[in-house]
Amino acid sequence: MPEVTLSTLNGLKAKGEKITMLTCYDATFAKAASQAGVEVLLVGDSLGMVLQGHDSTLPVSTADMAYHTACVKRGNHGALILADLPFMAHATPEAAFTNSAALMQAGAHMVKIEGAAWLAETITQLAQRGVPVCAHLGLTPQTVNVLGGYKVQGREEAQAAQLRADAKALEQAGAAMLLLECVPSELAAQITQAAGVPVIGIGAGSATDGQVLVLHDMLGLSLSGRVARFVKNFMHGQPDIDSALAAYVQAVKQVSFPASEHGFSA
Ligand code: KIV
Repeated sequence: MPEVTLSTLNGLKAKGEKITMLTCYDATFAKAASQAGVEVLLVGDSLGMVLQGHDSTLPVSTADMAYHTACVKRGNHGALILADLPFMAHATPEAAFTNSAALMQAGAHMVKIEGAAWLAETITQLAQRGVPVCAHLGLTPQTVNVLGGYKVQGREEAQAAQLRADAKALEQAGAAMLLLECVPSELAAQITQAAGVPVIGIGAGSATDGQVLVLHDMLGLSLSGRVARFVKNFMHGQPDIDSALAAYVQAVKQVSFPASEHGFSA
């Protein structure tokens, strides 16, 4: 795969071709996923749950994220590497600068930050300092204790209006990508249409510019035994992991995944 950059992703949005993203935490899967054509490898703080066995992402540190980002970089064949700033790593702009530097120096091309319009200044300042930012909106797992659980966000009109406003504010602040988690499909479609930057969805319907899943979920592996509505097991009917990764890429590109049963209504 030729090297994927932000320009590649903007070009895919412009021509209406879906963007493929998967979480990835190590060199072997980085090689397999990038060679299968996955355009963005997300070193997600979901590693706290799927690799470390915690019941939330809160215990994950920037050192953990930098370690796994460096592992992914070693196996990657041309994908763009997006790494999560973990819990509290962007609590102040200064913390965001230091922690983003650690992830970029470990091999990330871009960082992802969970939050809303309060992050605007941090995002502007990171972009000015050479760090492209993906803003993660909707269900933000780092604030699970404020949200009162892992729940669909934006079902009420006031909440939906707030999400539309936050998305606009963060794009205007300089976010180069948006990620929407667990929001009604119709709301995700509105935000995607209004956005000038790529919008990636998970549990956000098929109208976003691209899709992401947690690697272990799409390979049918679950520590807790609970499988979210938006997950599809791509190992079904496939002889091996490489074929499952290729099937995911094909399904996202052909818009056969996600189907309506993977999304949420208002
Ligand atoms: O950490 C992660 O894996 C994520 C995805 C759920 C989008 O943020």
